[in-house]
Amino acid sequence: MSKTVPLSKKLHVKTYGCQMNVYDSARMADVMAPHGYASSDQADGADLVILNTCHIREKATEKVYSELGRLRVMKEEAAREGRRMLIAVAGCVAQAEGEEIVRRAPVVDMVFGPQTYHRLPELVTRALGSENRRGAGVVDTEFPAEDKFDHLPEESASQGPAAFLSVQEGCDKFCTFCVVPYTRGAEFSRPAAAVIEEARRLAAAGALEITLLGQNVNAYHGAGPDGRDWGLGRLIRALAEIDGIARIRYTTSHPRDMDDDLIAAHGEVPALMPYLHLPVQSGSDRILDTMNRGHTADDYRRIVDRLRAARPDLALSSDFIVGFPGESDRDFADTLRLVREVGYAQAYSFKYSARPGTPAASVADQLSEVQKSDRLEALQQLLNAQQRAFNEAAAGSVQPVLFERRGNRPGQLVGRGPWMQSVHADAPERLLGSLVDIAIDLGGANSLSGRVVTVDADLPSPSSLPPPPAERVSA
Ligand code: SAH
Ligand code: SF4
Ligand code: F3S
Repeated sequence: MSKTVPLSKKLHVKTYGCQMNVYDSARMADVMAPHGYASSDQADGADLVILNTCHIREKATEKVYSELGRLRVMKEEAAREGRRMLIAVAGCVAQAEGEEIVRRAPVVDMVFGPQTYHRLPELVTRALGSENRRGAGVVDTEFPAEDKFDHLPEESASQGPAAFLSVQEGCDKFCTFCVVPYTRGAEFSRPAAAVIEEARRLAAAGALEITLLGQNVNAYHGAGPDGRDWGLGRLIRALAEIDGIARIRYTTSHPRDMDDDLIAAHGEVPALMPYLHLPVQSGSDRILDTMNRGHTADDYRRIVDRLRAARPDLALSSDFIVGFPGESDRDFADTLRLVREVGYAQAYSFKYSARPGTPAASVADQLSEVQKSDRLEALQQLLNAQQRAFNEAAAGSVQPVLFERRGNRPGQLVGRGPWMQSVHADAPERLLGSLVDIAIDLGGANSLSGRVVTVDADLPSPSSLPPPPAERVSA
């Protein structure tokens, strides 16, 4: 993603964790571009390597330290060749562990959290000025009073046809298992006008699909241009008016914040895609209560019913945690029952991981690894069967697919359908970045495959396509 300014240095960002981190990594590259740093997909030979980290489970955190081991070798090699390689740890591990990281891994020059990456250029300057002796790393894990978004460059590299846009950050919900309220800080919503402006820029740079991001995205309550507080439903309606934006998605939402207007938007805004990630974590009221989720399993069922009444073809996905402290066989059976009743198109499930500083970590009643593994396997068997059935049911349908990248086979493109399924089809390269009707032939465990329905020989190339009026380009 090169820019017009002279780019003489190389920046490599490696991203772990959630889509917010993917977005943040892209913005870090935007921050460094005016300072001469071009993005590179390799750490080897880079002048600045940033690990944008995730702290959500123990495994995620461990990955960072093993990657730092590998980077140490590269950094030493660079030093032998007379080059300086700066190594930074950003994101949620940085926020949670701060200076501890520099102590444990002296190879690290800089540590900064998710709320301070707009200060990256000055951190780099400071790091370059220091000798990187043990403990000499530059650490910035404040939650500054200034708004990071006000200090990020307007100019951003194109994210391609499907772009992310952060609208809300942080969490005030304090689920008893979760580190996010500590690593991302308090809930904050960007003003609607700033979001709309960024969406316009993304659309102008070729994005047809925008995914609105937030740790609790539907808790969004940003200042509206009319002086009122806008909820997510109102924001989505405004974004759907922007020329060129054909698809809107949002993630991650919390059942407690699914308000009437947002539910209604699912029935009223055609650009809002019929797929929703709505994590429930557990189907047991007792566990939901000790998790501090603030709703029961029946509350969740009712929300799903209302969403499906508004948008009958809505497909759902969720996150689940198995083996939460105190989870009995009966609690787990309640989770399986909820999964059978709701029926998911896709889902993520995890073994509970005790996180330092969270309330659930100090509960005495922790389950054994074996119990957790057995339950995870049973749950995943059920969820995988549901996913496969959902994919198989797509065979024979025609779906508008947004082609995002080349496939592994020559001549093949890969994109997503309305329900987030990956779709593979043989298609001419010029259809990259556009919405094309695909006749689905086959639904497999993880993806669909099909054929382009009709491609007009005179179809213009994606860059010269007019903004699509609705979902489809070819008919
Ligand atoms: N804000 C989102 C979730 C963010 S974290 C929400 O409220 O649903 C993403 C997922 O990681 C969570 O939904 C949860 O399923 C999982 N997770 C979070 N903390 C965890 C822990 N300590 N152990 C295992 N899984 C965890
Ligand atoms: Fe974590 Fe709960 Fe907040 Fe989601 S709502 S980020 S799971 S504390
Ligand atoms: Fe991980 Fe932080 Fe996202 S802990 S899931 S990177 S908010």
